[in-house]
Amino acid sequence: MKKLVVLTGSGISAESGLKTFRESGGLWENYDVMEVASPEGWAKNKELVLRFYNERRAQLKEALPNSAHMGLKELEKDFEVNIITQNVDNLHKRAGSLNVLHLHGLLTRARSTQYAELAYDIGYGEIKMGDTCEKGFQLRPDIVWFGEAVPAIEEAASVVATADVFAVIGTSLVVYPAAGLMDYVPKNVPVFLIDPNEVAIPTYRSVRYIREKAGKGIAELQEILRKEFL
Ligand code: OAD
Repeated sequence: MKKLVVLTGSGISAESGLKTFRESGGLWENYDVMEVASPEGWAKNKELVLRFYNERRAQLKEALPNSAHMGLKELEKDFEVNIITQNVDNLHKRAGSLNVLHLHGLLTRARSTQYAELAYDIGYGEIKMGDTCEKGFQLRPDIVWFGEAVPAIEEAASVVATADVFAVIGTSLVVYPAAGLMDYVPKNVPVFLIDPNEVAIPTYRSVRYIREKAGKGIAELQEILRKEFL
């Protein structure tokens, strides 16, 4: 089977009722990103950071995968689908997708502030001050914050380099190193972009723009891929 590699962002979960970050009404309009998503913010006010992610986790519990997540799962019938997501929700997995790489961590995991490798599934529960790893250090969300390394980026780049078809769905492509993955797409590989709004693509290569919300856009992508690539 041909390999379809997909890079997703918060736009794919918008139709599940989860907010994007930079649009009007998005999360970063109501929160200062450096206060809730950086090591400096954590050092300054841990309660605020924990509350922010506890709220996100509680919202995620009520959210369901939408037709876009399901559409990517369906494509596994005809393609080897590899999803690289910037999202910290678990909706791709809950839609059943087999290969999902989380670049920015996962809401449903906590990790030790001292030993990054001590990470725990916490489901949709809260992290509170005083919750510790087995070595006694405070737990924090297992999320990659601004200014922190993205441990999965090398694996992601090597997956992208083996794509037969590449698609970008629901991301403004402004956050690095994720946006830089575009540079690893081999030269002759077709690139599709699904987004209802204009996206400034950080490369000169041409893309096939499906200017739709993710649900409708993926239905269209399915048709094109089955017609042209099977
Ligand atoms: P952004 O908020 O920057 O971009 C969301 C994109 O989704 C925009 O291009 C929208 O036009 C598009 N969009 C909105 N509704 C959509 C829909 N129904 N279907 C498809 N697309 C839609 O969010 P991201 O690009 O995901 O990182 O942000 C990247 C990273 O910045 C996040 O992972 C997060 C954030 O700070 C961390 O927190 C570490």
